[in-house]
Amino acid sequence: MKALSTVIELQRQLRKMNLAPVGFVPTMGALHEGHLSLAKRAIQQCPVVVISIFVNPTQFNDKNDLKNYPRTPDSDLELLKSVLREADLVFIPGIKEIYPEEDKREFHFGNLDNVMEALQRPGHFNGVAQVVSRLFEIVKPDIAFFGLKDFQQLAVIKALVKQTGNKVKIIGGSIIRESDGLAMSSRNRLLDPEIKNHAAIIYKTLSAAARMIKNYDIPEIKSFVRDSISMVPGFSIEYFEIVDDIELIPLSTKEEMKKDRQYFGCIAVSAEKIRLIDNIEIGLV
Ligand code: PAJ
Repeated sequence: MKALSTVIELQRQLRKMNLAPVGFVPTMGALHEGHLSLAKRAIQQCPVVVISIFVNPTQFNDKNDLKNYPRTPDSDLELLKSVLREADLVFIPGIKEIYPEEDKREFHFGNLDNVMEALQRPGHFNGVAQVVSRLFEIVKPDIAFFGLKDFQQLAVIKALVKQTGNKVKIIGGSIIRESDGLAMSSRNRLLDPEIKNHAAIIYKTLSAAARMIKNYDIPEIKSFVRDSISMVPGFSIEYFEIVDDIELIPLSTKEEMKKDRQYFGCIAVSAEKIRLIDNIEIGLV
């Protein structure tokens, strides 16, 4: 693999190799097995894969969150060396490469702007759309890989691609978890060990909620989830919604479930000020 920091070098290298399809995995670094699973999936499908590492300031609505976001460049490169091939590229741009001037574009995603993460983090998905559309313009991937861990982000990216008429194919990779079920996240490094142990309750609760759909309706499942999370000292729930995979419209009863959609229970928990998000598929009944 080669690590590159400028758009010119990256594009020159891709042109020189002239391989297709080009696979792309955008990240913000502090890499873990979740990121690597996307890289491995990309490697299976593409003779050249670009992994980008860029902590995108425009998607952080909270300055402290941006300042505290974990940055581990040396171990990121070590991890990537263990999975990438000779032809693969790691793109680690400086801010001026991505934003030569201020990005003032505004994106609109209909209902996706009005639920869950969009309400908790105003402007977040606009920043994600800015950076991802810019990265697509630079890398020009044929296939791009995103994790289902960020369920709403994946829906936003699919909507973005549709809106812009980009031909890139978007693939969603399943959630990689710790052995206790906690979804892997760069932010897990910020949790103190005791809180991290308690955080296993999130997946346990989601799994129970997914089983409950057989015998209970949505309001009962929602109150079970709220009670289960709020029992843990220091934990509070920001939202729990059961939504479809396209428009992310929250269900209020099981009767609203449509046969041609998939449904996911999506949760955000604040664990002593660190935000943790997770989701689980809720089967049709
Ligand atoms: P980041 O949080 O670094 O995540 C990069 C990719 O890894 C995303 O597609 C995310 O969904 C996926 N991912 C994270 N944890 C995962 C897990 N446990 N299992 C599977 N996939 C996981 O998401 C971003 O960066 C940024 O918003 C980005 C898209 C790079 C734009 O800045």
